[in-house]
Amino acid sequence: MTLSQPTVRPADSPDAPAISDLLYEFNGKALRPEDLAQRLAEVQGTETVFLGEADNLLAGLLVLRTTPTLSGPEDWAEITEMYVRPSSRRQGVGRALVEAAVEYARARGCTEVHLLVDPENAVGLAFYAALGFCRDSWEMVRAIV
Ligand SMILES: CC(C)(COP(=O)(O)OP(=O)(O)OC[C@H]1O[C@@H](n2cnc3c(N)ncnc32)[C@H](O)[C@@H]1OP(=O)(O)O)[C@@H](O)C(=O)NCCC(=O)NCCS
Repeated sequence: MTLSQPTVRPADSPDAPAISDLLYEFNGKALRPEDLAQRLAEVQGTETVFLGEADNLLAGLLVLRTTPTLSGPEDWAEITEMYVRPSSRRQGVGRALVEAAVEYARARGCTEVHLLVDPENAVGLAFYAALGFCRDSWEMVRAIV
C-alpha cells in the first residue's frame, strides 16, 4: 500500500547503477553501470530517463526519446522503456512517469507521443489505453544480418 503520492525526477549520472538494474529487470539485459553512465552522457538531449519513486523507494523508470525530423518543426517523441517494479504496481507510478514524459515533450513543442507495445501484453495495453493512448499503426521490422 502506498503511503504517499509517487514522485518523478529526471535521472542523472549517479543513477546509472539503478537504471542498469531496472533495465535488466525489464529486458533481461542492460549495459553495465559504468557503460551506462557514459551512454547517459552521449544520449543527453535525445533520450531522457525519468525515475519514479514511491515511499522513498525507486519504483520504476521511463525513457523518452525526442528527435528532430524533416517532417515538421516539432520533435518526434517516443517512449522507449516503461517499467515499474512488481511490488510498486497499481500505485500510480506508471501514470506519474507517463505524465512527466508528456509534459516534457509538450514543453519541447511535441504534439504526439509514440510507443510500441507487444499486442500480447494485456497489462501494457490496458495501462496505455487508460492513459489516453490509442492504436495507430503496425510496426514492420527487417533484421540486418
Ligand atoms: C504497465 C506498467 C508500467 C503499469 O505501471 P503501474 O505503475 O502499475 O501503473 P499505474 O498504477 O500508474 O496504473 C495506471 C492505470 O493503468 C491501468 N492498469 C495498470 N495496471 C493494470 C493491470 N494490471 N490491469 C488492468 N489495468 C491496469 C489502470 O487503469 C490504472 O489505473 P487504476 O489503478 O486507477 O485503475 C507495469 O505493469 C509494468 O511495468 N509492467 C511490465 C512492463 C510493461 O509491460 N511495460 C509497458 C509495455 S512496454
